[in-house]
Amino acid sequence: MPPKSLVSPATSSPQPGPPARLGILASGSGSNFAAIQQAILAQQLNAEIRCVLYNIADAHVAKRARAHNIPAIFIDHKAYKTRLAFDTALLQQLLQHDIEWLLLAGWMRRLTTTFIDAYPNKILNIHPSLLPSFPGLHAVEQALAAGVTISGCTVHIVTAELDSGPILAQAAVPVLRDDTTQTLHARIQHQEHHLYPHALNLALSRRYFPY
Ligand code: GRF
Repeated sequence: MPPKSLVSPATSSPQPGPPARLGILASGSGSNFAAIQQAILAQQLNAEIRCVLYNIADAHVAKRARAHNIPAIFIDHKAYKTRLAFDTALLQQLLQHDIEWLLLAGWMRRLTTTFIDAYPNKILNIHPSLLPSFPGLHAVEQALAAGVTISGCTVHIVTAELDSGPILAQAAVPVLRDDTTQTLHARIQHQEHHLYPHALNLALSRRYFPY
């Protein structure tokens, strides 16, 4: 049985004080949302998810959030003429829910600098590659096409340039000879679910901030 990961994310403990008020932006299945919520319930994270905003009508993340009584709010990007108008609608919801930290968890839209500047250094993203390798769409396919033997996942701070902000934490995953996009992505996601809560703890407790 091959190793699932070459580098297991370190564990980290929750910061003291009031729970961090989190908002999640997601477009898909929401397994990372579920991992973060699980870490909160297990008291590994001192935080509460106050809302999930999603932009794809049938995104499974909405069901997952509602199962935990967390408001899941659909904001359809197609209903807005500009990116800024869409981002303004997102910001209004985040303001209403008094969100402090924002986690992109499978969020498939570029954000405007106006949006990013509203949460300076407080937006995190998870990406399924070892950045700076393979930024952008189809990261797992990119890794397979490049023939790398190690890939993984990265949690970083969101800045204006796509997938390029300061890196908080990474986990490495071996690429196997007969890997498909699906098998490799599944192994990477397994690591993502440990890495995101861990990286969030680092960010919340400011024990490691790369700037
Ligand atoms: C993850 O692989 C993440 O790295 C990428 O999108 C995927 C989201 O998965 N940004 P899920 O919706 O959290 O299950």
